[in-house]
Amino acid sequence: MMPEPAIETDHPVSQLRCIGCGQIALPDRFRCEHCRDLLEITYPGWEERGPGGLSSVALKRLWRDRRASLVPADQSGVWRFREILPEIASEKIITIREGNTPIYELPHCARSAGVERLCAKHQGMNPTGSFKDTGMTVAASFARHSGYKWVACASTGNTSASMAAYAARGGLHSLVLIPDGKISWSKLSQSLDYGAITCQLKTDFDGCVRVLNEVVQHMPVYLLNSVNPYRVEGQKTAAFELLEQLGWEPPDHIIVPGGNLANSSAIGKALREMKQLGFISRLPKISVIQAEGANPMVRSIRENGGEKLVPVHADTMATAIRIGNPASWKKALRVIRESEGTVEDVSEIEIALAKAEIGADGIGCEPASAVTLAGLKKLVKQGFVKAGESAVLVLTGHVLKDPEYTLKFHRGDLFAGTQLEKESEVIKFQQRSPITLEPSVQAVLELLRSAEK
Ligand code: F0G
Repeated sequence: MMPEPAIETDHPVSQLRCIGCGQIALPDRFRCEHCRDLLEITYPGWEERGPGGLSSVALKRLWRDRRASLVPADQSGVWRFREILPEIASEKIITIREGNTPIYELPHCARSAGVERLCAKHQGMNPTGSFKDTGMTVAASFARHSGYKWVACASTGNTSASMAAYAARGGLHSLVLIPDGKISWSKLSQSLDYGAITCQLKTDFDGCVRVLNEVVQHMPVYLLNSVNPYRVEGQKTAAFELLEQLGWEPPDHIIVPGGNLANSSAIGKALREMKQLGFISRLPKISVIQAEGANPMVRSIRENGGEKLVPVHADTMATAIRIGNPASWKKALRVIRESEGTVEDVSEIEIALAKAEIGADGIGCEPASAVTLAGLKKLVKQGFVKAGESAVLVLTGHVLKDPEYTLKFHRGDLFAGTQLEKESEVIKFQQRSPITLEPSVQAVLELLRSAEK
């Protein structure tokens, strides 16, 4: 049994509008036909009636009550918020029960960053192990709703894993373009297992995007990259859920990793909408952290106040965010400005240390997610985040997404033979290399005794 569509009405509740010139676009477009800017979904109907014709108080109760429902879409941490999503025929919804991800306290990380309390919203606890599932359920469902047979994406690994899973669940064919040798094998294995046609192109992520944008001109293939505005809508729900988990009391800071810059855009859009609809009375500061080797947004703000984005040749071991020409930079810039957040970049060594620290709190995440803690430390040092303020890190990927990185780190191989080898001495204290022993009780006991000293 599936739920009723969000709202029954004879005029559409949601509309696609250009973020640049404000022109309205057809529902399956990605860029404005007039000025080529990105599109976003807006809900003109909300002004008169509120989402689903309900007040914020009624919606809060409805969303909470749906957690106890046996209906698949209600059990989804995305579709239980369907009043704030575009309307999609209920029988077309593809859900793997995404969302409903936990918030964890990070006591050790808080101490290391110099703040009293620190939480993580762990989006890596989604069905395919990354935050991408929350957006994918909406965009893949829209593809099915619109009659597409094929979906496609260019990816650094997580989008492709997620898309392949949702396509398989929804009976759609999927095409994945990934940079050859530059994504973790764990993510690559997912898209193979879920049955996508997986092509490793001898280029980087930005090159894969260029090829895919051409391919979709020639075939009726629906693009599921994050320029897809339906993905952004699904990813919004993570912020609604976060605020629900915090009793609708906004934290002072939300820290998000930045790659193609869709997630920060989605979280910011959600908070803007929550404020407009009276769910919250103030916006948290949303700050975006990039890797030093893939920092076009940071550079753009530092060098020209965000007037234009100059693409960079991206390089970082946090392969998920190895992106030099982020598509959603204008949306993210708006979020940073209106929430009075900031941007920062962090080094490879800072990322590696932060990842190990998140692991040592018993949680773990993939390297790209760890930029948040590394960035927070810098923001505390700069005085942008005060010790007594509340902060939430958005962890985007599961620790098992990149086991090779984790193993190399603990074995001390991550920076071996690189220019950073000497500098990386400072993170040795976090390394716990696997220990090979004879199969003897004595040997294990001796080890334990020496560990206790
Ligand atoms: N963290 C992880 C684990 C990611 O996979 C990504 C993006 C990001 C952060 C950055 O999010 O692009 O919205 O700013 N991964 C994409 C992919 C690009 O293809 O999987 P963003």
